[in-house]
Amino acid sequence: MTLTTSIESRIDTLLAQMTLAEKIGQMWQISGKIEDAEAIVRRGGVGSFLNVIGEDARELQRIAVEESRLGIPLLFGRDVIHGFRTIFPIPLGQAATFDPQIVREGARVAAREAAALELHWTFTPMLDIARDPRWGRIAEGCGEDPYLTAQMGVAMVEGFQGEDLGDPERIAACLKHYVGYSAAEGGRDYNTTWIPEGLLRDVYLPPFHAGVKAGAATLMSAFNDLNGIPTSGNAFTLRQILRDEWGFDGMVVSDWNSVIEMIPHGFAADEKDAAAKAIAAGVDMEMVSHSYVDHVESLIAEGVLSPDFIDAAVRAILRLKFRLGLFERPINNIDPEGVLLAEDHLRAARIAARESCVLLKNESALPLDRQFGKLAVVGPLADSGDDQLGCWAFDGRSDECRTPLAALREALGADRIIYHPGLPHARSHDTSGLPELAQTVGEADAIVLFVGEEAILSGEAHSRAFLDLPGAQEALIDVLSATGKPLIAVVMAGRSLVLSPILDKVDALLYAWHPGTMGGPAIADLLLGEASPSGRLPVTFPRSVGQIPLYYNYKNTGRPTPDDAPSIPTGTPLDPKNFTAGYLDVDHRPLFPFGYGLTYTTFEYSDLRLSTMRLGMGETLTATATLTNTGTRAATEVVQIYVRDLVGSVTRPIRELKGFQRVDLAPGASQDVTFTLHTDDLAFHNAAMQRITEPGKFHLWIAPHAADGLRGEFEIGRSA
Ligand code: BGC
Repeated sequence: MTLTTSIESRIDTLLAQMTLAEKIGQMWQISGKIEDAEAIVRRGGVGSFLNVIGEDARELQRIAVEESRLGIPLLFGRDVIHGFRTIFPIPLGQAATFDPQIVREGARVAAREAAALELHWTFTPMLDIARDPRWGRIAEGCGEDPYLTAQMGVAMVEGFQGEDLGDPERIAACLKHYVGYSAAEGGRDYNTTWIPEGLLRDVYLPPFHAGVKAGAATLMSAFNDLNGIPTSGNAFTLRQILRDEWGFDGMVVSDWNSVIEMIPHGFAADEKDAAAKAIAAGVDMEMVSHSYVDHVESLIAEGVLSPDFIDAAVRAILRLKFRLGLFERPINNIDPEGVLLAEDHLRAARIAARESCVLLKNESALPLDRQFGKLAVVGPLADSGDDQLGCWAFDGRSDECRTPLAALREALGADRIIYHPGLPHARSHDTSGLPELAQTVGEADAIVLFVGEEAILSGEAHSRAFLDLPGAQEALIDVLSATGKPLIAVVMAGRSLVLSPILDKVDALLYAWHPGTMGGPAIADLLLGEASPSGRLPVTFPRSVGQIPLYYNYKNTGRPTPDDAPSIPTGTPLDPKNFTAGYLDVDHRPLFPFGYGLTYTTFEYSDLRLSTMRLGMGETLTATATLTNTGTRAATEVVQIYVRDLVGSVTRPIRELKGFQRVDLAPGASQDVTFTLHTDDLAFHNAAMQRITEPGKFHLWIAPHAADGLRGEFEIGRSA
């Protein structure tokens, strides 16, 4: 008997023994060790807990296995989003590494630490494509691009789950929030989403499909109303696409209360109706709210729900428990000592943080010359462990964070560092310390300034309408800029910020996101030239909030603004050359394009070669360019390949990312970089929602970012 058939037959046996109440119990997830938790577990009234860990989890599990009638083990879940105790950069920062290997390692580390506290299941990766940085949850995902998000999401699934979910050091992943949650109108969390099916299938769904293909064990339905149907009651996305089209056999959990939130959405009349709609749509487990345990028995008795729905849901839940090996090993009993914050975990977190930083400007200010006398370290985020952890770092501890101030003191000697926070905190408008600051930095040879957003400005329900530096941080920059000393800004944030007001005032700008436990040493490595920056932007950086939504893979329109158009059009308002898709008051282009990032050397791209200029359907093409390190330092370039389908039966984006490679090159060295494209990689959904590749002409770029590159052309014929 194969493992799968043996699991299915064990489920059959168990289902045959279960009462309806026990089945419904499996479909409920409780948050925290509520007062009567033990009694509920004893009577088989719950299948899972979230936010119960360690000793509490062990005790509840013992009761489930030893004292409940059928001994079905519990499943313990928690948001282990970018690390457990060893916190890695926020997922958006991890995406900026363009390095699936370090992202996979980060998830492996998180799983190992979480499993030591009896956790079986994390609610990540978040695969929501975010085109709007006002949305606070942009921090939790991998940015704006479906290809990059899919690559990173798959790496996370692989890192959490490993080859075998039964491995005691691995935990189940959860693809969320299915689907379209990030398209919230106005960037306001939980807001309505309208996504035409073609866009849904080409942009929002592909990362989820990739995660399903990678074997993700679970998936979470979302909070949002998608085209009029809340996603936790959406049979089109949960049944037709997920189960029927993709063949997902894992478990679907609702988001927190999202089943009963279908009432305020105006989609369910009451909790009973909400339960019926969620179950019929395919939500197997209800997180927190208890409409299933309260109403399913009567919904079945009244014939509203078929018992088959319940059996299918319970089957998916039990399947996960069997796959995790919980029936054989309900308790891990791993000693967390030696696992949490293990040396290799911290090392991986430092590499991830280093690779996540994106150098956006450098006028010969970096790397710092170690020969200088004193360095001023300024800013409210220079020594703020909590803030560098970022959002969703429940188990990370501020006092275990290595801050940039501590790391620079350690690297250069405390006596060479002059420290001043400048402002009491990053949102403060209290500028009373600034005159003193100007004095304090007087003896420094250079200033490194740590500004940005506190951790609490991003994450769930933390959307912003203004994306400039909060508080009086711009005034802080003005004071420091007026000193005339080399000024290096390190920005920590949970999203892309509008950097236009500060860019000209600093000599260098390193974007560090919220870099996690090892953020300090990682940033110090880069500032001091121990390593060269290699991060690239996973999101387009706007010049102004008014440009949002702004993303690189947009449609051309009938009146594209020419690339060489003046940044702000001049001439009379009726001048026809101004009637293009731009603005009158801001350049339509981004401040920094998707994929952008500098380093301490320069790279040259040359000699683009395509294996063929004409290929048949079903064939592959290789594209090669020569990359040369033309500077004086070793560094890593993230080489990217983009395509454009010039004419389609539906209009196509002006560019789409199809691959990337991190290439390490010594100064003066050259290397050929080759990508392979299959015609299927160029598929999209036509008006009839068929996924097809259409014959015709394409442009292709091998490029350092989305707004540059060597361009080639090829054509796909009708048949091979
Ligand atoms: C969030 C989810 C999270 C869940 C459990 C919800 O509020 O939307 O992303 O996994 O809570 O904490």
